[in-house]
Amino acid sequence: MQNFKAILDDICETAKNAKEKGTVASYIPELAAVDKNNFGIHLRTLDGLDYGAGNFETPFSIQSISKVLALSKAMALIGESVWKRVDVEPSGHPFNQLALLEIENGIPRNPLINSGAIVIADILLSHLKNPKEDFLNYVRELANDTNINYNTAVANSEKNTGFKNYAAANLLKSFNNLENPVDAVLDFYFHQCSIEMSCSQVSKAFFFLSNKGGDLKKIAQLTESQAKRINAIMLTCGFYDEAGEFAFEVGLPGKSGVGGGIVALLPDHYIITTWSPGLNKKGNSLLGMLALEQFTTKTKLSIF
Ligand code: DON
Repeated sequence: MQNFKAILDDICETAKNAKEKGTVASYIPELAAVDKNNFGIHLRTLDGLDYGAGNFETPFSIQSISKVLALSKAMALIGESVWKRVDVEPSGHPFNQLALLEIENGIPRNPLINSGAIVIADILLSHLKNPKEDFLNYVRELANDTNINYNTAVANSEKNTGFKNYAAANLLKSFNNLENPVDAVLDFYFHQCSIEMSCSQVSKAFFFLSNKGGDLKKIAQLTESQAKRINAIMLTCGFYDEAGEFAFEVGLPGKSGVGGGIVALLPDHYIITTWSPGLNKKGNSLLGMLALEQFTTKTKLSIF
């Protein structure tokens, strides 16, 4: 049995003392004020044991991490039909890149880049009765925690500055790949990204993807095969043009967000979440990636 608590404490200490902490995202003005000295890490093992270090109970903006939960809900609602509207290939480009979308006739490369996530938001808007309320409840149920909420200041901040997302949504609409009005889809998308959760809440919410047992069917309403596919998409597309680097350094399926969070998992073993708001040049948490590399190296627990 490994001493996970000591390993997390050690990783946290290294991160807190790091000189280079990356740059906090400022293109969503509300996110620019977050202190980059925050560092949290939380591990939940398959037997339900929890270990945390640093600021692992401080809520942060989950941003693109929400795209995985939106995808799971869309797969639970319409199954295989999702793949008529979005592909499953890595893009090799930044999360907000538009060129491929135009060349590929409005079919996004995958559901984790912004254009793909906007298509998934459109699916949720079409199939949920009260989309924002129902999606929030889904996340709360997964995490078993009713304290999780949208941050409307962050959602509005992105509404005022998210010009590339408006461009992506308009392109999708021009290719008939959005059923609902652009403004309605983006209002939902900006809200899903604004959800605030702590590392421990994220680990709990993503537990179903590491656990082939009851949680999948009971709460997430997914099959094992659908969970396998979500993990595959996280491995190949979860870090945009840094997906190869994350697989190379860390060796786990995972997903990052510009709020500085990263969630990653080893199926049948554990879920791990880190939060460090400073990002690297590709928009992924600088110290989060380093921390996860240390974790899989020290514990020898990765998929490879
Ligand atoms: O749409 C956006 O640009 C943000 N709401 C989310 C982007 C994001 O988190 C990219 N991930 N690293």
